[in-house]
Amino acid sequence: MKQFISVNDAGNIDQLVQLALQYKAEPLRDRSAGVGKRIGCLFLNPSLRTRLSTQVAAQQLGLDVIVLNAAADGWKLEFTEGAVMNGQTVEHIKDAAPILGQYVDILAVRSFPELKDREADYAEQIILQFIRYAGVPVISLESATLHPLQSLADVITITENLQAHPNLYQNRTPRIVLSWAPHSKALPQCVANSFAQWINAWHQADLVITHPPGWELSEAFTAGATIETDQQKALEGADFVYVKNWSSYHDYGKIKEEAASWMLTTQKLKATRNAKVMHCLPVRRNLELSDEVLDSPQSLVQQQGGNRVWAAQAVLKSILDSNA
Ligand code: CP
Repeated sequence: MKQFISVNDAGNIDQLVQLALQYKAEPLRDRSAGVGKRIGCLFLNPSLRTRLSTQVAAQQLGLDVIVLNAAADGWKLEFTEGAVMNGQTVEHIKDAAPILGQYVDILAVRSFPELKDREADYAEQIILQFIRYAGVPVISLESATLHPLQSLADVITITENLQAHPNLYQNRTPRIVLSWAPHSKALPQCVANSFAQWINAWHQADLVITHPPGWELSEAFTAGATIETDQQKALEGADFVYVKNWSSYHDYGKIKEEAASWMLTTQKLKATRNAKVMHCLPVRRNLELSDEVLDSPQSLVQQQGGNRVWAAQAVLKSILDSNA
């Protein structure tokens, strides 16, 4: 693995999941793999899980870890080629990234979209310029359009739950529903795009995406999934329901008001096959998901969050192996 910015870098998804599950069973099995090497984690946006799970995973492989909260502590970076830098940006990515590449063996970057210019965000110019100029393998800690470490943790979590109940899935394909949720802020489409991309590439479940009319995601990520704008119909027979808000892709970055009826509740879940409920966190309680659902045995959110460590560890080991 030379880099990790989307499912296209994952290789065999099941093999990556199995490696992650080996780390879950024995966290220190490769404790020397990264000794003498260093990862730099650059956060242009906030994080709790991604930041700490990546650090834990790296340390369990023996890597030295440095973290820069770049949004607060770094210079404001310029990403536009040929920019006349007489505004707020202080340093061009062309100057900063090669320096970072001299300090670390792996560079991990979190950078959210601005949600103003769709073409600019979907061109992924920030993560791609880090790849272009850093000269070391780059890992996405969430980029403008995708969140692959989250999606790998999600597939690990689904795999564990499928393996825990083999009889339930002997003669049928699991049904996974990605259900849009209300939110009071404009959020990126990253988690939803990425989840759809990974489940489609995994080929081991039927994916249904449900959202209010007009809230379609980019077909570049959803092609292969069934789109259903009737949430209750989508939930019928579901085995897993992944709840997530995203702002509009077509009316780019806009939020939908008065959509409170889309919050997932215990009542709605009655149409499912006692579905497990997923969310990447952070979650707005009683807006996206009710307390009743989040605090119920059907919720997998803690398992997902825990699995972020094993996802990161599997990816870091694969990168170390390919760049030894
Ligand atoms: N799910 C996720 O990426 O969490 P953080 O934003 O806290 O890293």
